[in-house]
Parts: sequence; C-alpha cells; structure tokens
Amino acid sequence: LNNGVARTPPMGWNTWNTFGCNINETLIRQMADTMVTNGMRDLGYRYVVVDDCWFDPNRDSQGNLQAHPSRFPSGMRALGDYLHARGLLFGIYQSPMDQTCAQYFDAFPGSTGSLGHEVQDARQFAAWGVDYLKYDWCSPAGSINDQVAAFAKMRDALAATGRPIVYSINSNSIHEKTGPMRNWGDVANLWRTTEDITNTWNSGQTNGYPMGIQNIVNINVPLSSYAGPGSFNDPDMLEVGRGGMTDTEMRSHFALWAIMAAPLMAGNDLRTANSDTLTILRNQHLIAINQDALALQAVQVSNDQTRRVLAKRLSNGDVAVALFNQGSSTTTVSTTAAAVGKTGSSFTLRDTWTNATSTTTGTISASVPAHGTVVYLVSGGGTVVPQPTFRLRGESSGRC
Ligand code: DGJ
Repeated sequence: LNNGVARTPPMGWNTWNTFGCNINETLIRQMADTMVTNGMRDLGYRYVVVDDCWFDPNRDSQGNLQAHPSRFPSGMRALGDYLHARGLLFGIYQSPMDQTCAQYFDAFPGSTGSLGHEVQDARQFAAWGVDYLKYDWCSPAGSINDQVAAFAKMRDALAATGRPIVYSINSNSIHEKTGPMRNWGDVANLWRTTEDITNTWNSGQTNGYPMGIQNIVNINVPLSSYAGPGSFNDPDMLEVGRGGMTDTEMRSHFALWAIMAAPLMAGNDLRTANSDTLTILRNQHLIAINQDALALQAVQVSNDQTRRVLAKRLSNGDVAVALFNQGSSTTTVSTTAAAVGKTGSSFTLRDTWTNATSTTTGTISASVPAHGTVVYLVSGGGTVVPQPTFRLRGESSGRC
C-alpha cells in the first residue's frame, strides 16, 4: 500500500503471543521501557502494539471506543504519549466486524468491533496518536469481495485522517489454509498469510489452527513476488523466546522471517528475556537484511524437502542466502553464487550468526544442524537484477 509508511517491514513488539487478553497499561509501559534499555528500540523495534482486549466492552453514548477502565485507567492517548516520549510508536487493534476476535470467541465481553464505525474509529485512533492499526477479521469468513470491501473501508478511513498509520490486516478464514487468495498490497501494508503461529517447530497443523514454524514457511515462501516497499506478507509474529523450540529452531525462525521480509514483531516477555533470546532478536546482520531498502522478500533457489535455499538481493549488491535444513539430522546445504544471482569468480561469505568470513570461487555451503538455518551475506562480483519471481498457484504472473 502506497501510503508513505512501512517502506521496510515494521518491527516492534505485540502483546498477544504471551499475554492474550491479560494486558494493562503498566505491563505495556514496562515492555516499552525494556525495549529502550535492552537496545531493541535503537535496532529498529519501534512499534508497540496493543492487541485485542484493550477496550471497554461498551462504546460511549456517542458511539466512541473507550479504553478499558481498569486496565487502561490513564486512557489510550496517555499510553501513546508515553510511547512517543520514548521514541517508540503506538499500535492498536480492532476488527472489521461487530466483534473483535476475543469477543467472537467469548474470551472478552461486548460487541465493539469497528463495523459501521470505521470513520469514527479511525479519527479516534488518529486523535490518540496511533501509528499502527492491526485490523483482524475473526467472524464467519463471508466472501472475498466482502472482505476486500471491509478492509478497504478502514484503509480509506485511515487515509482520511491525514495521519500516517501502518495498516496491518488479518483476513483470517480467507487467508485460507494454504496462503492468501489475493495479493492484498492494494489494501494494506501487511497482511497475514497463515493461521495463527504457535511456538512449536512443526507440531501445529499443516492446514489449520495453529501452525508451527515449518508449515508457515512452506506457505509464505512462494508469496515472495507480493513483497515490496509498503507491502509485506505477514507470516505472523515472532515466537522467539517463548519456549517450545530449541535455540537452533528459534534462530532459524528469526533468520527465515528476516530474509522473508516479514514484520519482526517480538511476542515474548521482554522483561525476562534471557541472553540467548536477546542475541537472536538483536542480530544486526539479520535485522539489516530484513530492513534493506529494496524491501524484497527472498526467493526460493532450491528445495529438495530437506535442504532449502532462499536468496534475497540487497541494495548494496550483496545477496543474503539462507541455507535451511528442514530435516531431522545435520546435513550439508549447498548452492552456488551463480544460482543466487551473483556474477564473477570470487566472493566473500559472512556468516550472520558467527560474523566469520571466508572466500569462495562459487560454492556456498555449510553444515547445518537439524531445523537450523545458516545465513550468509555474499559480496563481491556483480549481481543479476531483478531477482527472479515466483508464481502463486494458478496465476499467470507473480503480481496481480
Ligand atoms: C487472531 C489473530 O491472528 C491474533 O494474532 C490475535 O490478534 C487474536 N486474533 C486476537 O483476538
């Protein structure tokens, strides 16, 4: 979406994965303070997104949304001010239906979705200083046309406020079990491509709720041609630091999200994050790959079901290459400089986890543990442009 924001994937923190509906302003202020002191803000994690359940179950007599009185007694404007004073940005959540997702599933009372209140709510968000809206469809799917109309309505309402607001959508049932039915880049800055993520490698369902990391990667990789400045596939928020995965798996998860140009929205409790978790979230090479100005999503170079190679061309001519071992034992994953779009006869490889460098005349290879991902920055020589594109199922071209 060409609305001036999210020219690279948004980075930040979101309440949902760890706290669900159990949120309040103290918690969010503490998380914001932690993002400042642990260096995450300065590495680019700027959006603090208050997901579902922040609101009073009833609108006021004029139909305005209100902050939940006991959870957010200072109000949402005050929370936004608190974040802005610390160099952070303010994200909030709503739904295009008459109930938010938590309301729909009876985890939270009320019917305070934005249906019929789009312009009013968008104005309210702008007045509160909101910089990011997550707009989440959670009721029966309806048709794809209904969904496009509903999401476009809020896109237009946000634009009419004049405030730059990142627009993040979740079309839920219509992001279908195997990827989105359409390229949502004309409607939103980022759109969910799968069911909800869970903090497991592949024990989630392959085509249902919730999904493990491997299944999400399988769905999101072929969508690479949809990504570009202002428009990103969203394979859901990070599960780094939430348990349920080995350190190798968490590194792989982060590396793959980085190279897929996914939003990097941490979802763990940052106040208690250990050093392994922080090392992953603060990997500067991977963040730079994710935030590269070309905003390309890595394309798939090869995949034999065990060994998968992805490549993302960068604005300085380097190519980031992920060597991903999907199998259950250590194996060597290999490609070549030519296969990832490099020309020339001598290249430098920088390992983004160890920072070690090596030279090669063309072979790009590493021994990768089960479920691990080695990411190299490949420099030297020339770079073939543009990087190749993929085709989505049944489409004649990558962009629609
Ligand atoms: C479904 C979304 O996928 C989650 O990320 C979260 O926003 C919940 N809804 C909130 O109810």
